[in-house]
Amino acid sequence: MSNDIEIKRDGGVQQIRFTRLDKKNALNAAMYAAMTEALVAGDADPEVSVHMFLGGDGCFTSGNDLNDFLAGAKGDASAAGGVVQFLRTLPDVSKPMLAAVDGAAVGIGVTLLFHCDLVYASERATFTTPFLDLGLVPENASSLLAPRLMGYQRAFELLVLGETFDAARAQEAGFVNGVVDRTEVESVAMAAAKRLAEKPPEALCISRALMRGDPREVRARSDAETAAFSERIKSPEAREAFTAFLEKRPPNFSKLRS
Ligand code: COA
Repeated sequence: MSNDIEIKRDGGVQQIRFTRLDKKNALNAAMYAAMTEALVAGDADPEVSVHMFLGGDGCFTSGNDLNDFLAGAKGDASAAGGVVQFLRTLPDVSKPMLAAVDGAAVGIGVTLLFHCDLVYASERATFTTPFLDLGLVPENASSLLAPRLMGYQRAFELLVLGETFDAARAQEAGFVNGVVDRTEVESVAMAAAKRLAEKPPEALCISRALMRGDPREVRARSDAETAAFSERIKSPEAREAFTAFLEKRPPNFSKLRS
């Protein structure tokens, strides 16, 4: 179990909160394991109707811990199991997932939202997927789900160009339902979660499954991305990008040009 993930029940809502604010809620193996366990347990528990992801004041999550990526780049795959298990769990979740985003959502902090059914953002929320700049490729079935949600061109701009979307752009792109004041984002998301939790539970899960489509397609794309990602993480480009961030300097890819 992780100290950096807080699991709380509020009525039929299971809240999954990132609480590693000193590291901008960067996600490590123990945090992924705690989230996977909560999703599986909540799905099996008749008292839980919906799952909700929350961050901290001013930061949703800065995505995967870059120290773990760097360890992977050096051949230590021990941290990878947690994230892979989480990625394989998301397409199989049967109850609605919601998110309240305040501040930065980066990497998997954005692609997680494509698996959610309702997303609320504060006016200062930002959405960035710097996969390419890290020498990586999109993950978490985002190469499938993002074009579906927002159209190919906008998805390419977000996932490949690495453009940061502000809250208004994310709403216009269609992956944020509402933009509200930072002081209200959690209560607005909770109000929606509680409305869902009051619906007939079987009808709720069946409706969600019908709307989301075949989870096997999502899992297959996520697995294909994971295979490409696992190769890329060992590349000299990725290693330079991770090292540069942790050394607080800009990356220098020029020496890698052949
Ligand atoms: N992995 C590991 N550590 C991280 C991290 C991450 N993804 N994101 C932030 N941190 C750490 C920083 O190293 C710093 O640690 P330190 O205090 O020991 O030096 C601390 O969190 C604060 O980060 P900082 O960059 O100073 O905060 P900021 O407010 O200036 O910027 C972000 C916030 C999220 C914009 C910035 O931290 C960032 O870009 N993080 C990396 C995001 C990323 O590339 N994620 C991988 C996606 S695939």
